[in-house]
Amino acid sequence: MTRNTRPTQVVAVCGSLATDSVTRVALQEALSAAEAADARTSLVDLREYHLPTFDPDEQDAGDAPELRRRLREADAVLLGTPMYHGSFSSPLKTALDYSGFDEFEDTTVGLLAVSGGGFPRPALEQLRSVSRALDAWTLPLDVAVPNSYEQVDDDELADDAIRDRVRDLGAELVRHAGIARYPNIAETTPQHAD
Ligand SMILES: Cc1cc2nc3c(=O)[nH]c(=O)nc-3n(C[C@H](O)[C@H](O)[C@H](O)COP(=O)(O)O)c2cc1C
Repeated sequence: MTRNTRPTQVVAVCGSLATDSVTRVALQEALSAAEAADARTSLVDLREYHLPTFDPDEQDAGDAPELRRRLREADAVLLGTPMYHGSFSSPLKTALDYSGFDEFEDTTVGLLAVSGGGFPRPALEQLRSVSRALDAWTLPLDVAVPNSYEQVDDDELADDAIRDRVRDLGAELVRHAGIARYPNIAETTPQHAD
């Protein structure tokens, strides 16, 4: 399997704008695991981006071009969101609406969601569906962090099992980064009869 020789680039997007965000802490843990697997990593912290509510007539509004540039450079993208009212957050939706196939087609995508109550499966499933619409390659492994109010201690994930799963996700992103470029996979893609 031939892989690019430049370091793998993993970019995480944090869908929470909160100062004390469990999502951000979890994403940083995943990026730390990706770095341990020899990737270059960076966090797109949407607090630092001016992104007005998406208007199709203003697709270059605010920092949208810079956001798209960061995403296009990535071999793998980790989308992290708080669950809001049974769904993923509006800052993340806005960021995704400013993006498209140029940013996500053939990109390996990992998903992580955080909730105050039970497991945030709806947010993960909805993000999986959005990723499919963008033609991304979504990893089967995703991470649901429930009971967020008891998950962070001293800026670190407190639960060993959750931390291990988050780190597994970071490592899997590196392992499968750029998956659509693997020639062996492209050659063995099944041909469907119409
Ligand atoms: C507007 C809003 C809606 C929320 N809806 C849910 C929900 O439907 N289910 C749930 O378990 N938690 C819900 N929460 C709690 C958040 O998911 C929780 O506080 C989470 O930690 C936020 O992520 P963050 O710490 O990264 O900001 C909601 C919080 C807010 C502010």
